[in-house]
Amino acid sequence: MKTKVMSKDAANIEVADIIIGLINEKSDCVLGLATGSTPLGVYKNLVDASKTGKVSFKNVKTFNLDEYLGLEGTDKHSYRYFMNHNLFDSIDIDKNNTHVPSGVGDYQGHINKYDDHIKESGGIDIQILGIGTDGHIAFNEPGTPFDSLTHVADLAESTIRDNARFFSSIDEVPTKAVTMGLKSIMNARKIILLAFGDNKKEAITRLTKGTVSVDFPASILINHPDVTIYVDEEAAPNK
Ligand code: PGA
Repeated sequence: MKTKVMSKDAANIEVADIIIGLINEKSDCVLGLATGSTPLGVYKNLVDASKTGKVSFKNVKTFNLDEYLGLEGTDKHSYRYFMNHNLFDSIDIDKNNTHVPSGVGDYQGHINKYDDHIKESGGIDIQILGIGTDGHIAFNEPGTPFDSLTHVADLAESTIRDNARFFSSIDEVPTKAVTMGLKSIMNARKIILLAFGDNKKEAITRLTKGTVSVDFPASILINHPDVTIYVDEEAAPNK
């Protein structure tokens, strides 16, 4: 696991450039994408690169980590809406190649096929991740088994509190989500985790110094051969 400390802007440029480089080498690559405030700068840089013709997403396939249970993709709080709004609607990607777990209808049927669908698409080349203050990655909260595939998860109290800022009240935050599991994430060939701001410092310190434990889900990444953590000064681990 490598940790790189730099400004948020520099990290957003470097990570977008890595993704652009991959697409230009392998036009039908598979990206694993995340939501939340953390990856927004990278997505903005990808939109700019697409608009200026530096990259084409025409053959790229994407799989998102998670979706709130019970929210339609048209709901402004859904992660499908987030991805369309912040990335997919502004790049030349074929929407049929973009996958976000379904949180409605036959979501269980969708869950059962999600990991196989990723595998059949060639597997994730680069997985983008944020991290929760409690060490969650996607919605894999403390206690999630390391061998978990895509499943329905209960959100931890701290996650509901952290995510309430996106809703008009905390009571509106769904308490369950469909999420790729820890094994689904570990199957990616390359993982890039981003963390910005002092509220992530404790989690990053624990991740970079820590031992592998189900109490701190992100710690499984220590066992992955190709993980890079990008942090700004505020989120940089304590020495
Ligand atoms: P954030 O969320 O990007 O909004 O900080 C990260 C996470 O909870 O995984």
